[in-house]
Amino acid sequence: MIKQAIIPLAGLGTRLLPLTSVFAKELLPINGKPGIEYILDECIDAGIKEVIFIISKKKKMIKDYFYNDKFYKNIIKSKKDPRIIKEYKKILKYKKMIKFVYQNKPLGTGDAVLKTKKYIKSKFFLMLLPDDLIIKNNCSKSMIKIHNQYKSSVMASMSINRKTVSRWGIYKLKKKIDKKNFLIEDVIEKPSKSEAPSNKAVIGRYILPKKIFSKLLKQKPGKSNEIHITDSIQSLIKENEKFIAHIFSGKYLDCGSLNGYIKSTIEISKL
Ligand code: UTP
Repeated sequence: MIKQAIIPLAGLGTRLLPLTSVFAKELLPINGKPGIEYILDECIDAGIKEVIFIISKKKKMIKDYFYNDKFYKNIIKSKKDPRIIKEYKKILKYKKMIKFVYQNKPLGTGDAVLKTKKYIKSKFFLMLLPDDLIIKNNCSKSMIKIHNQYKSSVMASMSINRKTVSRWGIYKLKKKIDKKNFLIEDVIEKPSKSEAPSNKAVIGRYILPKKIFSKLLKQKPGKSNEIHITDSIQSLIKENEKFIAHIFSGKYLDCGSLNGYIKSTIEISKL
């Protein structure tokens, strides 16, 4: 059973500057609620019991957000406002399930994942990239179902415009399992148009095997000199580890770019 999730949060958020120069993008409000809370709610609803946040010293405010008890207690004592009491209870619920690990140099997603190595207990775990919101359907929950059925790794996937392949991890199909699930033959991080084996992109939800850590330990920096999780996934696939691409049915919102961030508030306000 998948009970642990990890969330890399140690990136610099340069695409959202100037909003991110002193503020953690994951705490920016999307329709009045910090983005990270949507991700946590998805985890809870998918049956996750422990979430590991990979943060950096620069992103310490993320930890502070969940550890502001004294402040809440004082306000509640003087104001007794039911709304604030409810919000504080929600924060306490989140806090109980979160563990923090640090990646102080942003060497890439692969390096971030490696920081969680000693905390992962089961053979598989879930990873969510917080810039990628998926609304209207719980993508993690659907992926866990697929994992339980096929006992394999799973990655969320969608078709993208061919012109934008160099922004994504792009995979090559091996075999159709059913309408929404495909076996993957290869995956390439941010390929050029000519390198891209398809227009199918990996979106920020992964069910990964614990054995990825042995690959990450040896992983050399790839594109833009970063250690990419995709490169270690590629090595595992080459050694016949089964990876399934799951075409999710929710709506994808890219909160990592300024345009996408603005649009996501509009989309969520329509729900
Ligand atoms: P991105 O590279 O897409 O986002 O990382 P970023 O670095 O935060 O922002 P930009 O590109 O500069 O605008 C995808 C996810 O991986 C995390 C990020 O926090 C983000 O959630 N990440 C990335 C790390 O935790 N560590 C890293 O070294 C790199």
